[in-house]
Amino acid sequence: MTNDTIHILVIEDEEFDVRRIINTVKPYPQVKIDDIVSSGADALNLVSKKKSIYDVVIMDFQIAGGVMGEELIREIKRINALIQIIVITKMTIHQTDFDFANRLIQAGAYWFCTKYPGDIESYIYQPTDFILSIVNAFEKKRLESDNIHTRRKLDKNVRDILSKKQIIGVSEPIKLLRDQIQQFAETNASVLIYGKSGTGKELVATNIHYLSSRNLESFVPINCGSIPRDLIESELFGFEKGSFTGAQENRAGLFERANGGTIFLDEVSEFPLTAQSKLLRVLQDGQIDKIGRKKSYEVDVRIISATNKDLEKMVQERKFREDLFYRLNVLQIYVPSLQERKEDIPVLTDHYLNRYSREMGRIKPEFQEGAMNVLIDYHWPGNVRQLQNVVQRMLFLSRGEISRANVVDAIGMKMSFTERRQLYQFDRENILPLKEIERSFRKEYIKFVRSLCKTDAEAAQKLDLAPPNYFRISKELGLK
Ligand SMILES: Nc1ncnc2c1ncn2[C@@H]1O[C@H](COP(=O)(O)OP(=O)(O)OP(=O)(O)O)[C@@H](O)[C@H]1O
Ligand SMILES: [Mg+2]
Repeated sequence: MTNDTIHILVIEDEEFDVRRIINTVKPYPQVKIDDIVSSGADALNLVSKKKSIYDVVIMDFQIAGGVMGEELIREIKRINALIQIIVITKMTIHQTDFDFANRLIQAGAYWFCTKYPGDIESYIYQPTDFILSIVNAFEKKRLESDNIHTRRKLDKNVRDILSKKQIIGVSEPIKLLRDQIQQFAETNASVLIYGKSGTGKELVATNIHYLSSRNLESFVPINCGSIPRDLIESELFGFEKGSFTGAQENRAGLFERANGGTIFLDEVSEFPLTAQSKLLRVLQDGQIDKIGRKKSYEVDVRIISATNKDLEKMVQERKFREDLFYRLNVLQIYVPSLQERKEDIPVLTDHYLNRYSREMGRIKPEFQEGAMNVLIDYHWPGNVRQLQNVVQRMLFLSRGEISRANVVDAIGMKMSFTERRQLYQFDRENILPLKEIERSFRKEYIKFVRSLCKTDAEAAQKLDLAPPNYFRISKELGLK
């Protein structure tokens, strides 16, 4: 039995029964009657004031006037659903009325007993039974309250994950994407996400899972391209001990571990043709065929997959099973590339600038005029992932404000000469006189070539300039 004090409110309008209740619980010091009231209104008043004090309410079913019976039960539960209610009634009416007992439980009562007849003066009910019901009610309250705590913690975890995995953007395509995610999260259907590299496909899959009703279960990402072909079946579906040499114990596959949750098949185009029929079986009947096991095993997993390849074309070329494609492609989401949503570039840049400055312990720098346009005009083949890297590099390169040159350099580490030239041609917001753009271009280009060479002489040679000319030009451009 519990050692904690159990706090009780008694609702009873007959003095005689109040005395019998007090007497019945008296031998058990943990049971403490805090208050006794004789009307429903008084009871509700007290429960509101002391809602976190009472553990158990012992109430007479029929009390004179005002709120009583099932209505009173409902009201108490509405104020604090954790409070457990024990109902006592006159034996004469309700001893064999199951329908009545059922209605009480429906209303939210925990337990129900009929009072002893009036000629038994000391007890309201068989004392050990009565106390046991109070203690059990208290235990139930404790379990419910633990459950609520756990549930709250889990919910908070989910919220934390979602806030870290926010999909940032203000463009129309991104708003549509967020709507689709919300909508698809409410279903159980398979989703195929397609989009270029670095656009946020995994981010979308993560959001769908954590917004869905499966969000307390696992989200299991599988990169289909990185699991060796001959291991994919055992990785995904598991195996039984002794089913092949090396199978020294039973092993649960990823599908089994994701049971109840979501599996994310990333780069699904790389899923080996030979194993595709097994995957299809899971999708069709929720059955997995574990290696070495006769009976198949049932799982409930939602499938989200992603690809940056044209799966339909692969189907036509017989490189991907058509029936599997239709199973995966029930709902589709297209994640637009940065080029299709240039309005998002400043927003994302700002977001990452905030984050990385904070991480590096630096004050967030401002952009000099024209610098942001370089970012907007760039074509971002690596999409958001590339933008993240560029922002990090910009922070390393800049002192104080971020200049156009910093941005160019940050992008340029991976840029070809043609791309570099494009940067100068496509800055529509900042049309410079030809002389000036030429000068800026010469400067950047010489810097670029010099950075690839060990000496000035080598740079001069690559640029096909006589060394004195190279030095003169460099000096004029402020490079020396
Ligand atoms: N709209 C966005 N808002 C915030 N972060 C984003 C957004 N889109 C992508 N990211 C971030 O960009 C990075 C790349 O995203 P993710 O890995 O989801 O892309 P992917 O499409 O799966 O890429 P790949 O094709 O290379 O696998 C991640 O760090 C992700 O958090
Ligand atoms: Mg990815």
